Amino acid sequence: MSDQVAPGSAGAAGLASGGGLAPEAGPAVVIGSPRLEIRDIRKTFEGKRPVEALGGVSMTLAANEFVSLAGTSGCGKSTLLAIVAGLADPTSGDVLVDGRAIDGPGRDRGVVFQTYTLFPWLTARENVAFALRGEKMSAQDRRRVADEHLALVGLTGFADARPRQLSGGMKQRVAIARALCYKPSILLMDEPFGALDAQTRLLMQELLTRVWESHRLTVLFVTHDVEEAVYLSDRVFVMTNRPGRLKDEVRIDLPRPRTIALQEDPEFLELRRRILASIREESLRVEPGMDMAERT
Ligand SMILES: Nc1ncnc2c1ncn2[C@@H]1O[C@H](COP(=O)(O)OP(=O)(O)O)[C@@H](O)[C@H]1O
Ligand SMILES: [Mg+2]
Repeated sequence: MSDQVAPGSAGAAGLASGGGLAPEAGPAVVIGSPRLEIRDIRKTFEGKRPVEALGGVSMTLAANEFVSLAGTSGCGKSTLLAIVAGLADPTSGDVLVDGRAIDGPGRDRGVVFQTYTLFPWLTARENVAFALRGEKMSAQDRRRVADEHLALVGLTGFADARPRQLSGGMKQRVAIARALCYKPSILLMDEPFGALDAQTRLLMQELLTRVWESHRLTVLFVTHDVEEAVYLSDRVFVMTNRPGRLKDEVRIDLPRPRTIALQEDPEFLELRRRILASIREESLRVEPGMDMAERT
């Protein structure tokens, strides 16, 4: 992994380098293969009525790139993310991390889902530390790394709280801390803020931007919220209706660090308009044989 990073750069990803956190880590330069390569992924769910969810998706993500995947509901976004996470098998195609084909889930990829996936009987600190159970670390170090990552997401002081004592946004912050604590080089997020109210959602977008801009790692982010995609990303892919394929790729060259005020910027609004139009075109397109009920 580190042999693909230029000398003097901060490491494969800021969070992947050394012990503890590496604040202000600059972007790494990839010399060899891309960090993440998705090669012609197809997926058909077999059954009485087979569902072709993905019709051939290919993309490459460079180290430390933030890429979003946007598309209508049911177009296969979650299916693709689960395959990249190694939680589901594709019908055909490959996923490569640093040039090596994945075989199931791995510590190189952290995952955050929309629904809260914390253990209710564990404290915030224990939930994060649980992700470190496979590491050769003392209990004290696990606790320290868990606390560092809770601090990263602004939860210092809540380490001993249990999930039921935390708001939705705070639970998702614990989930982000947990996904980052073992220093994956790739973070996979499936509508992580989808269940939150609008105000909390904005705060979480700001938090994620701040964490990502200061620590950098490769992110594949699934959302149907176009503003969120533009605000967070370096590139946004729009998917077609099912069977999902990539339809458009939009580069977001807005300056960083980004603040929420950017959402008023004419360039931001133009990018948003372009992506919305692309998605809208898909939602108006009726697949042959598609039920009206599926056009949501
Ligand atoms: N386990 C499954 N079995 C059968 N069909 C599924 C399964 N999971 C997802 N699908 C179908 O695959 C399509 C894509 O689903 P999904 O990836 O969840 O879409 P998205 O996340 O973009 O909303 C949908 O039509 C969905 O109903
Ligand atoms: Mg989904």
